[in-house]
Amino acid sequence: MNDLELETFGYDDLDQIIAIEKASFPDPYPRITFAWFKLRVGEGFIVARKDGRVVGYLISEVRRGRGHIASMAVATDCRRMGIGEAMARKSIDRLAGRVKQVYLEVRPSNEAGILLYHKLSFEETGKVRKKYYPDGEDAIEMARAV
Ligand SMILES: CC(C)(COP(=O)(O)OP(=O)(O)OC[C@H]1O[C@@H](n2cnc3c(N)ncnc32)[C@H](O)[C@@H]1OP(=O)(O)O)[C@@H](O)C(=O)NCCC(=O)NCCS
Repeated sequence: MNDLELETFGYDDLDQIIAIEKASFPDPYPRITFAWFKLRVGEGFIVARKDGRVVGYLISEVRRGRGHIASMAVATDCRRMGIGEAMARKSIDRLAGRVKQVYLEVRPSNEAGILLYHKLSFEETGKVRKKYYPDGEDAIEMARAV
């Protein structure tokens, strides 16, 4: 997408991110969590902007020597336009050189997420985190080399 800008998160983006988060997850992160992520991961917290509007975010970090995609979401009316893929590729490129592997957790019921990660060469590692989500659903771990 030509008119998409990927930038580091700034606190002015928070209201729009909260709206995307609420529309995307049954258990949205509260504002304080995003502020905490900003302090923790710095430039690992990116936003996608289109015509000045925030249309997605992705948070990545180095965790115990591995790259970790902590969360990502795209505005419901902007999905299937390549925004999630563009944010993930930028984040993986940024992690490359610092880590040898990137991993993430995803709900087994999250078809769109799993298909996106497969397209990005992530594979299921076989590790299951039991009752990982607040509603009791397990998380599966997916990972890829970088
Ligand atoms: C998962 C999510 C981030 C994908 O973002 P997106 O910008 O719509 O994804 P993209 O347009 O970059 O899709 C890239 C590829 O992923 C796959 N994909 C993404 N969404 C898909 C869907 N709904 N159905 C089938 N394939 C899908 C396709 O392979 C797609 O490539 P293609 O369009 O060339 O076929 C988005 O659906 C979302 O915000 N979901 C809610 C939050 C969430 O689940 N986050 C991930 C938590 S682990």
